[in-house]
Amino acid sequence: MSKPAPSGIERILFTEEQIRSRIGEVAAEISERYRGRHLKLIAVLKGSVFFLTALAREIDIPVKIDFLAISSFGSQKAGGGVVRISKDLDDMIQDEDVLLVEDIVDTGLTARYLLQTLAGRGPNSISICTLLDRTSRRIVQVPVEFRCFEIPDRFVVGFGLDYRQLYRNLDYIAVMNPEKAGS
Ligand code: IMP
Repeated sequence: MSKPAPSGIERILFTEEQIRSRIGEVAAEISERYRGRHLKLIAVLKGSVFFLTALAREIDIPVKIDFLAISSFGSQKAGGGVVRISKDLDDMIQDEDVLLVEDIVDTGLTARYLLQTLAGRGPNSISICTLLDRTSRRIVQVPVEFRCFEIPDRFVVGFGLDYRQLYRNLDYIAVMNPEKAGS
């Protein structure tokens, strides 16, 4: 481990080596699936940026990238989470093959909202690729085409995922106990 573990880290789920190796496998699948097509990777700020850059470097076909940011309101646990786009894409996606790159699909509410919204803009196709998938907490079903890892129902940080905006820059993904985290 190259950096000291912050307080609150309980255990490492995936090391940097495991993450990069798995991303390589998923990138190979994506390269095969989209060869000869016009692939655009869309990352959801901020958590997906680390995954997007690692993934894009392993994909061996030309890709475009774009970013959007979302805000969530309300209680997701109650199924009432409302999501809206707070920073939109720079470019149109009409007739492009879009891969929505997510850090984690949890309840599925964010992914469903983005799929529905972007599908209305006339892409040739739109699919989801996520670093982490926590299917045990799904509220709405969304099709996840490419996934690196399924994870247990525990809060995780690292490789882009944060706790109060911190810990995104950890090279690994770890279970964190927020009650034991420093402020
Ligand atoms: P969903 O709409 O419930 O699927 O939520 C997805 C978003 O919640 C992710 O993009 C993350 O920003 C955040 N999130 C969900 N679980 C975790 C976690 O364990 N650690 C950090 N962020 C999380």
